[in-house]
Amino acid sequence: MSTALIILAAGKGTRMKSDRPKVLHRIAGAPLLWHAMRAGAALHPERTVVVAGHGFAEVEAAAKAHDPDVHVVEQAEQLGTGHAVAQALPALEGFEGDVFVLYGDTPFISPETLEAMRNARASHDVVVLGFDAATPGRYGRLVTRGDALDRIVEYKDATPEDRALTLCNSGVIAADAALLREMLSKVGNDNASGEYYLTDVPGLARAAGRSATVVRCAEAETLGVNSRADLAAAEAAFQNTARAKLLELGVTLQAPETVHLAWDTHLGRDAEVEPNVVFGPGVTVESGARICAFSHLEGCHISQGAVVGPFARLRPGAELAENAQVGNFVEVKNARLGAGAKAKHLTYLGDAELGEKAQIGAGTITCNYDGFLKHRTVIGKDAFIGSNTMLVAPVTIGDGAMTGSGSTITRDVPAGALGIARGRQENKPDFATRLRTLLRAKKKAKQQDKA
Ligand code: UD1
Ligand code: MG
Repeated sequence: MSTALIILAAGKGTRMKSDRPKVLHRIAGAPLLWHAMRAGAALHPERTVVVAGHGFAEVEAAAKAHDPDVHVVEQAEQLGTGHAVAQALPALEGFEGDVFVLYGDTPFISPETLEAMRNARASHDVVVLGFDAATPGRYGRLVTRGDALDRIVEYKDATPEDRALTLCNSGVIAADAALLREMLSKVGNDNASGEYYLTDVPGLARAAGRSATVVRCAEAETLGVNSRADLAAAEAAFQNTARAKLLELGVTLQAPETVHLAWDTHLGRDAEVEPNVVFGPGVTVESGARICAFSHLEGCHISQGAVVGPFARLRPGAELAENAQVGNFVEVKNARLGAGAKAKHLTYLGDAELGEKAQIGAGTITCNYDGFLKHRTVIGKDAFIGSNTMLVAPVTIGDGAMTGSGSTITRDVPAGALGIARGRQENKPDFATRLRTLLRAKKKAKQQDKA
């Protein structure tokens, strides 16, 4: 059975008190929308449609950045969830099969839950995801009889009897495409909100002699984001779950609660992470690598046996081959360190290529930017860069070459050569002693003048 996915993301999110569309607020470095798209991708949908409204252009760009094949349709006026789904139907022209509707502000629906809904679809025309709410509040209530879902009643329209129900609507719904089209055409807006409710679909389907049922999930999965406080709570929930998964996979996190992960952080088995490490998006750490305390990593790849930090910053395009080492106050951007290469202190390596076992002395800087363009530095294998070397790119240091400490290297250094570029040292015998005597006398004379 083929599947199509509709993600509702047109709402303004007034309670976020933000100029940014709600679904573009981030959890673990990724917009809420990407989390919802990733959740839905577990269904391997044949087509995905995002319904956007507020901040349409931005939401469209974000959706396409995550999945270039996604259809983004506009719901110019937010007339309700039923109206929103109706806007997606033209993009599903000709599609037959299951349609799943997810919300863009509900990031944690699990693949297992969606799979359970798909299974339930085999025996029911409409499947709604429900949960037993600790505090049912203003959620829509599911009115059931045994296995069957009779209807969904919105809080505003509910009787006190309905409101006493604790089985609530998560918002996720799955239905046969043809049935959904037919039922949506019947949804009106004669209700307390004056909106077209998607939640009228199960009741209408039942009235038409079709079947509807409920699949239940844990309340944590249906966590939606409506305010900054919800966003912070969702971030915390994501972090806790992601840390627990890593521990389960065989990763050592010495102080899990202090490690901040991104939505796509990948840590191999036996990787070790010390306290207070921040992972931005796009980091892969292979097994057995060690990330020491207070390091910040983003868009980088760390191979087996490599050591990072403490206090290292790896920016996008940093690539550490096996056993490479990057130490304290070293920043690496768009640079590859060959196997066993080391830069252990106070260094900037940007737009660079380091050969195997190259050694970078403290205070080295690749001067990669001339104010207009970026240039590359190439350092050969076994090269030794003396402390405080400025490598003015573009420049190449050959295999096994050295640079003298304090050099400003502006020309290539051939393999095996020593490049040295600094003022020659001159020693003036006795000069310091004589200078000291002179200065001491001057100071004394000044003090006597004052007295
Ligand atoms: C909805 C459900 C309610 C459920 C609750 C779960 C309806 C009528 N009610 O209520 O039963 O318990 O979610 O959180 O469906 N959206 C659009 N266009 C619109 C309206 C909404 O794209 O015209 C999007 C919103 O951006 C949001 C989602 O749909 O992502 C849900 O809308 P929201 O207004 O939050 O619905 P609730 O009132 O919470
Ligand atoms: Mg809501």
